[in-house]
Amino acid sequence: MKKIFSLICAGMMSVCSMTFSGQAVIAETEEKNNVLVACFSRNGENYNVGVIEKGNTELLAEIISEETGGELFNIVPVVPYPESYDEMLTVATQERTDNARPAIQNTIENFDDYDVIFVGYPIWWGDMPMIMYNFLESYDFSGKTIIPFNTHEGSGQAGTVVEIRELCPDSNVLDGFSVRGSVAQNDGESARTIVQNWLDSNNFSSLIQSESVTYTVQDIHDLQDFLLAKPTEKDLKNKPYDLDNDGVWSVFDLCLMKRVFSSSAGSRCDKF
Ligand SMILES: Cc1cc2nc3c(=O)[nH]c(=O)nc-3n(C[C@H](O)[C@H](O)[C@H](O)COP(=O)(O)O)c2cc1C
Repeated sequence: MKKIFSLICAGMMSVCSMTFSGQAVIAETEEKNNVLVACFSRNGENYNVGVIEKGNTELLAEIISEETGGELFNIVPVVPYPESYDEMLTVATQERTDNARPAIQNTIENFDDYDVIFVGYPIWWGDMPMIMYNFLESYDFSGKTIIPFNTHEGSGQAGTVVEIRELCPDSNVLDGFSVRGSVAQNDGESARTIVQNWLDSNNFSSLIQSESVTYTVQDIHDLQDFLLAKPTEKDLKNKPYDLDNDGVWSVFDLCLMKRVFSSSAGSRCDKF
């Protein structure tokens, strides 16, 4: 239904683009990218996938980055992990026994700029790799939204979300999602569908539009006139009217704007 409305509105906007000189059909509102996709992942020999050039979780992180526009950050250990799967099992066991905090080579320079952080990792022995504990303890995640994601070969999330909530008590840690490593490695389209479904069902676009915007009665009239293709000299080009963040101005945006306006009576309020 929404798609049909959007198509109708896209058509109306084409008319508008002829009416308003220089008016873009696609809304050009500037979005501040406040999304980070951080992950630890290991290449080499692994369970179910043989010897791989790029880790399963890293492939999943790349899909998330493509779908959200988030910046990628790969957590790189100072001491590289072994290529051999058997050796890796031994090292991971030792790290757990030692409650180790393996050192990380790289840092996120502009960490404060990010409000929404996807945190990705493989499951190792029913838990996060110990390097993830180091990562989560190295930054102040207070006030940020954390979205855990992981790859595994049967354990799912294995209780790691509870662990992250304990490590980051002042963050909004969402339930997140997991994908089988072999799916991320060999069936990118299925992995992408899982990511897209998660983003849709969790209304992801609302998470990243946290800047406050004021809408006035005039804005409502302007958007309404725009959608009705009424001629005007007004330049609406950079107006924040794409409230549902789907790339076009539509009646849905108008409904959301009216809702925002009526709930705030024109005062400052959070954009949907
Ligand atoms: C040391 C080690 C321990 C693992 N333990 C588990 C486990 O407990 N449960 C599970 O489902 N998968 C386990 N796996 C499989 C990985 O979670 C899976 O292969 C994952 O996709 C690897 O991601 P990566 O390629 O990003 O490192 C383990 C793999 C390794 C290397």
